[in-house]
Amino acid sequence: MTKLNVVILAAGEGKRMRSSLPKVLHTLAGCSLLMHVTNTARQLSPDKICIVIGHGGEMVKQSVLGDDITWVPQQQQLGTGHALMQTLPYLDRNGLTLVLYGDVPLISIQTLLELIAKAKEKHCVLLTAEIENPFGYGRIARDPDTRAIKAIVEQKDANSEQLEIHEINTGIMLIPNDYLHNWLPKIENKNTQHEYYLTDIIALSVKQGIQVESSQTRNLWEVMGINNKSQLAELERIYQKHCADKLLHLGVSLIDPSRIDIRGELVCGSDVEIDIGCIFEGNVKLDDFVQVGAHCILKNVKVASDTTILPYSHIEDAEIGENCKIGPFARIRPGTKLSNKVHIGNFVEVKNSQIALGSKANHLSYIGDSVVGKNVNIGAGTITCNYDGANKHQTIIEDDVFIGSDTQLIAPVRVSKGSTIGAGSTITKETPEGQLTLSRSKQVSVSGWKRPQKPKV
Ligand code: UD1
Ligand code: MG
Repeated sequence: MTKLNVVILAAGEGKRMRSSLPKVLHTLAGCSLLMHVTNTARQLSPDKICIVIGHGGEMVKQSVLGDDITWVPQQQQLGTGHALMQTLPYLDRNGLTLVLYGDVPLISIQTLLELIAKAKEKHCVLLTAEIENPFGYGRIARDPDTRAIKAIVEQKDANSEQLEIHEINTGIMLIPNDYLHNWLPKIENKNTQHEYYLTDIIALSVKQGIQVESSQTRNLWEVMGINNKSQLAELERIYQKHCADKLLHLGVSLIDPSRIDIRGELVCGSDVEIDIGCIFEGNVKLDDFVQVGAHCILKNVKVASDTTILPYSHIEDAEIGENCKIGPFARIRPGTKLSNKVHIGNFVEVKNSQIALGSKANHLSYIGDSVVGKNVNIGAGTITCNYDGANKHQTIIEDDVFIGSDTQLIAPVRVSKGSTIGAGSTITKETPEGQLTLSRSKQVSVSGWKRPQKPKV
């Protein structure tokens, strides 16, 4: 079997981004441009992935996890041909190399598989696209009679006739490695940019009578490159529209498909409804009949069926049971697991806590590092004081507890089964089962007391 190598060119500076961050580290849908390309390359299970780095090389290297990458430095950015030449010592002698660009993030696995399928009998294969406005791209020059590819002509080197060509070079190509060894050292920089153009190997191929095949992209946005912030913003919206269309197709109701952001993977059951302005990050799973209100942010969350999340709620690294009601303005932080029929209301923050069936904290509370039993009612303004400045402590609230408003539970502490806590209490010791416990200073009234008056002028 012929070995497959992938080279990702990522050494360019990206001046037009006007940013200190290397271009390929800018994010699209919450993931760096380079990670998008690397993940797609990994799906091909190639024998080797080389990434050519230059500007911000160390930072770029740190950004990609895993030890399956061969990092190839390019000291000076002398052109795409020069960049690929740096990888020659690492490529498998009899393999094939697929060239990808670190700034073309959305190339799909399907398009690449179609391109690879065209690689018969040692031909070179180019991924091309017909576009309305080809400005800036290398043009595909074909023989007028046979339509065979003759060369790629860069925008800056093209004559007026070539500038009229709408078939462009996406930059993505598949070349047998022995040809690369032969041709790359022959490339010259006699062009307007004084760069070593990778695209010049096409003319060399034709000169040697080696056919150049072409393959087309499925969607134009797959080959859109990022050179500046407006292209990045444009591609982000195109990608989000594509994600939204996929969800709609699967039967998810999106109140406005142009106002949703998915920065990871969102998996939905049937009859899920999502209102405007929501952001889904990491892996989010919404089961059947879940409703998500406007402007919620959910990151790495599982929500079981029939649960409603009301507007402006923020939920991260948590599991929410069935038939729960969360929000509006709820904050659920990492390590939280809510059972079924739990209600978490406005301005309630829950962190690293488990809350069992049917329990409610409807207003203005902080529940941290706690284990809450079934059918517990936590009154407004209840705070678990879990932090002593150095350590975190646990609060245990057993089944059927009723906690009056404005209570502080000084952890570590246990509120035993069936306890009732009087409003305004500070609880520092375990409360006995089934009793009323309260800590409250006696109410006094001062007769004859007069309110101070402002002097009259
Ligand atoms: C290149 C193609 C052009 C094609 C276009 C598609 C060449 C000569 N031209 O032009 O035909 O239509 O892409 O987007 O190949 N890079 C390096 N080292 C270098 C130079 C570039 O690693 O010395 C990397 C960049 O980081 C980038 C990629 O190669 O990821 C493309 O380089 P860029 O300068 O953007 O090429 P274009 O002028 O866009
Ligand atoms: Mg470019």
